Amino acid sequence: MANFLTRTANDVMDWVNARAPGMMPMYRKHMTEYYAPKNFNFWYYFGSLALLVLVNQIVTGIFLTMHFKPSAAEAFSSVEYIMRDVEWGWLIRYMHSTGASLFFVVVYLHMFRGLLYGSYRKPRELVWLLGMVIYLVLMAEAFMGYVLPWGQMSFWGAKVIINLFGAIPVIGTGLTEWIMGDFIPSDATLNRFFALHVVALPLVLLLLVVLHLGALHEVGSNNPEGVDIKKGPKGNRWSPTAPADGIPFHPYYTVKDLVGVGFFLMIAAFIIFFAPTFGGWFLEHDNFTEANPLVTPAHIKPVWYFTPYYAMLRVVPSFLGSQIWGVLVMFGAIVLLFLVPWLDKSPVKAYRHRGWLSWAMLAMFVVSFLWLMKIGAGPGTDPVETIIGRILTFLYYAFFITMPLWTRVDKTKPVPERVTTHD
Ligand code: HEM
Repeated sequence: MANFLTRTANDVMDWVNARAPGMMPMYRKHMTEYYAPKNFNFWYYFGSLALLVLVNQIVTGIFLTMHFKPSAAEAFSSVEYIMRDVEWGWLIRYMHSTGASLFFVVVYLHMFRGLLYGSYRKPRELVWLLGMVIYLVLMAEAFMGYVLPWGQMSFWGAKVIINLFGAIPVIGTGLTEWIMGDFIPSDATLNRFFALHVVALPLVLLLLVVLHLGALHEVGSNNPEGVDIKKGPKGNRWSPTAPADGIPFHPYYTVKDLVGVGFFLMIAAFIIFFAPTFGGWFLEHDNFTEANPLVTPAHIKPVWYFTPYYAMLRVVPSFLGSQIWGVLVMFGAIVLLFLVPWLDKSPVKAYRHRGWLSWAMLAMFVVSFLWLMKIGAGPGTDPVETIIGRILTFLYYAFFITMPLWTRVDKTKPVPERVTTHD
């Protein structure tokens, strides 16, 4: 039986290869002959996990679309229908809503890995830039998805965020009306957000991910030591020309990544089955009430992954009657992330070979980001917290703006010639 199956599989492969001779070389280039550094650690799980979540969002999204009604009159009740009456509908919906939050957990850890090992440095600037564009599109995708169930927070969140564009001088008001297709978020807004969320942005995301991986495979992966394995000796037991410290991505890292997938699925299943709203962090309590343009919720706030930026928006005071400064500070915080490859002047890539100053700055950045996340998720009424928020926003900016300075003056440790696997 096994013999028969192997023969049939080989026959099918030969048949395909005869008709599409370019396919096998492509598979080899990106899988069995893609030589990745042998010292990948825990932090390298999150790229493949991001891919897994992307697939989960697309598959569960397709099933949700079969039952969801993209109109202001029916959206909320169609979601209730999915939860109560559609077979396994509750599971599909919770897999999608939990998936959205886990997507950001995974992507934030993936980005942090990039920072920690200097993976954005030459020659991987393009990998980082494409990653940042993915991050932006992902934020737009998540925001529009959140509007679709047409709950209270969908409506009021959309109103607050879209109105930010109103702070732009001259064109602001016209722009907000153009985005909404109305004067407030309405049926027209929901309809277009549905089209963008379900078709346009997922296509863009998929394309960007292909480009992201294509750009990575051109230059090869970085690793926890931050040393380039291509510059080391050549030849391993698979190929005389491959880097000596590289191992084939398949089967070695496909198997390693499966371990990550196993742990990740256990955590995801636990949340989906036992805490799908995650105490209001993944699905907010106010969104279980249908949108009502006449009743404002007590505290309008976005989902946790946006709250660091939302906190910045709220703590920056309006100046000369304009809110534009908060908007600029908020968007500027994201622009700074794009610039990291050119702000970092350290002679070494990975933080493990840098001195205490770099570690102190990195810790300051992480603390300011997480604390702002907490402040942005709160009511925003405490004046002391507002002051703290301003200081944290300042520290967040300081991390990036002074980076050319502290990366130059910080003492570095000797960098090994080749990657090691001692830890
Ligand atoms: C849908 C979202 C994303 C997916 C599916 C994705 C996927 C991947 C995969 C599979 C890898 C190779 C495996 C690994 O190194 O972990 C990778 C590497 C990388 N990604 Fe992403 N990524 C995403 C978003 C991002 C974002 C938002 C950034 C940063 C702004 C980013 C920056 C990088 C960098 C710098 C590398 C190279 C890391 C190294 O070689 O050390 N990615 N990505």
